[in-house]
Amino acid sequence: HSPSVILTPLLYCGFFFFIFFCTQNIPQRSFGIDYDCNCFVKDGRPFRYISGSIHYSRVPRYYWKDRLLKMKMAGLDAIQTYVPWNYHEPQLGVYDFSGDRDLEYFLQLANDTGLLVILRAGPYICAEWDMGGLPAWLLEKKSIVLRSSDSDYLAAVEKWMGVLLPKMRPHLYQNGGPIIMVQVENEYGSYFACDYDYLRSLLKIFRQHLGDEVVLFTTDGASQFHLKCGALQGLYATVDFAPGGNVTAAFLAQRGSEPTGPLVNSEFYTGWLDHWGHRHSVVPTQTIAKTLNEILARGANVNLYMFIGGTNFAYWNGANMPYMPQPTSYDYDAPLSEAGDLTEKYFALREVIGMYKQLPEGLIPPTTPKFAYGKVRLQKAGTVVEVLDRLSPDGPVKSTYPLTFVQLKQYFGFVLYRTTLPKNCTEPTQLSSPLNGVHDRAYVSVDGVPQGVLERDKSLMINITGKAGANLDILVENMGRVNFGRYNNDFKGLVSNLTLDQDTLVEWEIYPLDVDGAVNHDINGHLDRPERCVDNPQSYEAPTFYTGRLSIPGGIPDLPQDTYVKFPGWTKGQIWINGFNLGRYWPARGPQLTLFVPGNILVSSVPNNITVLELEHSPCSTQACEIEFVDKPNINATTQYENYAPQLFVRDIWLNHL
Ligand SMILES: *[C@@H]1O[C@H](CO)[C@@H](O)[C@H](O)[C@H]1NC(C)=O
Ligand SMILES: *[C@@H]1O[C@H](CO)[C@@H](O)[C@H](O)[C@H]1NC(C)=O
Ligand SMILES: *[C@@H]1O[C@H](CO)[C@@H](O)[C@H](O)[C@H]1NC(C)=O
Ligand SMILES: *[C@@H]1O[C@H](CO)[C@@H](O)[C@H](O)[C@H]1NC(C)=O
Ligand SMILES: *[C@@H]1O[C@H](CO)[C@@H](O)[C@H](O)[C@H]1NC(C)=O
Ligand SMILES: *[C@@H]1O[C@H](CO)[C@@H](O)[C@H](O)[C@H]1NC(C)=O
Ligand SMILES: *[C@@H]1O[C@H](CO)[C@@H](O)[C@H](O)[C@H]1NC(C)=O
Repeated sequence: HSPSVILTPLLYCGFFFFIFFCTQNIPQRSFGIDYDCNCFVKDGRPFRYISGSIHYSRVPRYYWKDRLLKMKMAGLDAIQTYVPWNYHEPQLGVYDFSGDRDLEYFLQLANDTGLLVILRAGPYICAEWDMGGLPAWLLEKKSIVLRSSDSDYLAAVEKWMGVLLPKMRPHLYQNGGPIIMVQVENEYGSYFACDYDYLRSLLKIFRQHLGDEVVLFTTDGASQFHLKCGALQGLYATVDFAPGGNVTAAFLAQRGSEPTGPLVNSEFYTGWLDHWGHRHSVVPTQTIAKTLNEILARGANVNLYMFIGGTNFAYWNGANMPYMPQPTSYDYDAPLSEAGDLTEKYFALREVIGMYKQLPEGLIPPTTPKFAYGKVRLQKAGTVVEVLDRLSPDGPVKSTYPLTFVQLKQYFGFVLYRTTLPKNCTEPTQLSSPLNGVHDRAYVSVDGVPQGVLERDKSLMINITGKAGANLDILVENMGRVNFGRYNNDFKGLVSNLTLDQDTLVEWEIYPLDVDGAVNHDINGHLDRPERCVDNPQSYEAPTFYTGRLSIPGGIPDLPQDTYVKFPGWTKGQIWINGFNLGRYWPARGPQLTLFVPGNILVSSVPNNITVLELEHSPCSTQACEIEFVDKPNINATTQYENYAPQLFVRDIWLNHL
């Protein structure tokens, strides 16, 4: 394709504008839709955008500028970002816009870099993010119907939008900022509720706070089926679709809702997401380059999703159903890697973009150097049960039957459920979750002796042994809430009763655990007693904290640099460095073996404090008790993969988008 192919319609378009607008007063900064020339119009002139997705919540603030500049240098006009509600309102009425959550600073940096912004304000965002960005505290009303006109849901949305949108208003393009368009909801046509009143309420709320001028839009799968419940008069309907398909057919679907106006693919997939236990997704560069060329040749607007995926730090990953949580890396096989590295895909797509517009002059910021700090020895600091008083300073909540995380007002991480064995279990006795109510993984021990793991959808029963009256400890991990589809209201913890043989277990002591708080107050060094023997012939060990120190070597310029941490012989857990929660590791399941460690969390003046919570089995009794810092990622290992047909599921989502 040659660029001249698109010149004709643009000239035609320009002519139209000449007669249409030159008789009127065009405001200095304006952005809108022109239905006669099927294009956007910016400052009175036809405008087509090439945009890329970056989620500020997945990139440390320290690196925002670097990533934005790399995006600018790829020839992008705009970036697109989601606003995750649960990231900013962690508890009802408690708002956080500081540090890594400083959305306004991010917008300012984008503007300073010369990038426009397409804001996807939610309230629901999907995004492979915990609960699709909806705060878990919404579930305090158990029967709430999320993403509908449910009055409690709408009241919470209205309150949140009353905080978020007034902050955004000064950043709108016509007010001197970078935001040209604001997306309402996300792929609503894929949701079962199909509640037009809900979309109408959102439209009203958005208009009330942002004014009448800004372009509000929706995004849905490119088919009549998806647009049926996703599109609404007053919201410009755009579509999303993957490379390799029929671009003409996809845009025809958009034309079904918008007979005229600009063609827009709001999510053109540069790669795809991953799940623990499934093969790492890769989408070939040539396929993307070819379809991108077709989209641009047509004069259409496009957003590359993702341009940089980044990282699900801490507990922020989501999950799909049947229950499949996403890993810590959100690399996405995007043009910029998880760590912001320039890839072959970056340069190939930049070249395609360069056929349609002038690329900016200047240097592309180089890939940040990575450093292999090597092995770090860890020491056992105590089991979860041994340090329980520090993890749960307020002590347990007593309840006849188990309570969920939401009932405990703890939304992330881990909760310890304790009861006593009502009878002697001298022979192996069945502990089971007949209603599949372990959400999501439970590490079971009796008086400190590990018994096994229960897992949602996968392992609903184990045998345990122990004496009557012994403590039955069940540490339950929330592995991330479902972010897509009708099972969004994903309660965590023990969401149904457990049975021992046929008997329902009762009289629980439930310990909410503030693991992150305890890690920040140094979980290490308070153990005066001699270390207990960790030798364990079984395959399971009780969940245990390990700590260690990483010293940055002297005499090497420009340290500390980024690095990756890998877990040889470790099984599954969570890691913090200097109190920063880097996320979950699970080399036993894969495909991700290394975690990205951004250099900005490391210091060279004093040793860096490492805390590892290993949930299943460490190498410490048989091999070296070490983790290792390396200079290359490995997120595509071939470990054991699921037997049931994950590929089918993934295809389903693809089909939704085609
Ligand atoms: C955003 O950038 C433009 C130049 O592209 C500038 O005119 C405008 O003042 C900037 N806005 C802010 C809020 O910095
Ligand atoms: C693409 O879709 C259009 C519209 O449905 C159709 O006319 C065309 O034949 C399709 N092209 C291919 C290669 O299938
Ligand atoms: C459990 O077994 C012990 C002997 O090992 C016995 O003393 C005790 O009474 C038994 N308890 C119950 C509840 O059966
Ligand atoms: C539990 O123990 C019973 C009886 O010893 C045995 O038949 C069964 O296979 C065991 N189940 C598991 C999951 O280990
Ligand atoms: C446990 O069972 C009791 C008695 O049947 C029931 O009232 C309770 O709701 C159940 N609890 C959960 C969490 O399922
Ligand atoms: C590591 O922890 C020690 C206390 O055990 C503290 O003195 C030191 O400042 C911490 N290091 C960093 C980098 O936070
Ligand atoms: C993983 O990715 C690396 C780097 O792109 C590649 O060399 C390697 O072949 C891949 N491994 C697998 C198992 O796909």
